[in-house]
Amino acid sequence: MIIIGSDHGGLNLKSALNSYLSRRGIQVTDAGTNDDSSVDYPDFGQKVAEAVIAGQAELGILICGTGIGMSIAANKIPGIRAALVTDVFMARMAKEHNNANILVLGGRVLDEQKACDLVGAWLDASFEGGRHQGRLDKITALEQKYNN
Ligand code: RB5
Repeated sequence: MIIIGSDHGGLNLKSALNSYLSRRGIQVTDAGTNDDSSVDYPDFGQKVAEAVIAGQAELGILICGTGIGMSIAANKIPGIRAALVTDVFMARMAKEHNNANILVLGGRVLDEQKACDLVGAWLDASFEGGRHQGRLDKITALEQKYNN
């Protein structure tokens, strides 16, 4: 199951990705927002990130206008590796090397087709482990050191 959330700047892309994920037969939980009134992206970043950490969803997708605010907010939650991506190579690497458990997209940056391509590349890739796991362990150590 994937949980998806956005602010008003990512609302349209969220709808498109909901349809794309359903077409792929993936169960989706939509954490909102549900209309175009102005909301605060950290609230939705928190909802999605906490659901992933709690194991209520395997992976998360977050969208704001640029993706920047959502990635900053989600990465405050220990254990979250939220990757803001703008091309297919980055999306694939986000899984293969970084094992990103949240993909972050910019609703005012990407068109719908591109966003679906990025989500597809991330979902279809696999974490390579090995030396990359050692690097993720160092990130975990940083979280512990700074009690993030
Ligand atoms: C909202 O206007 C905008 O700031 C937000 O969607 C996002 O781009 C923040 O990083």
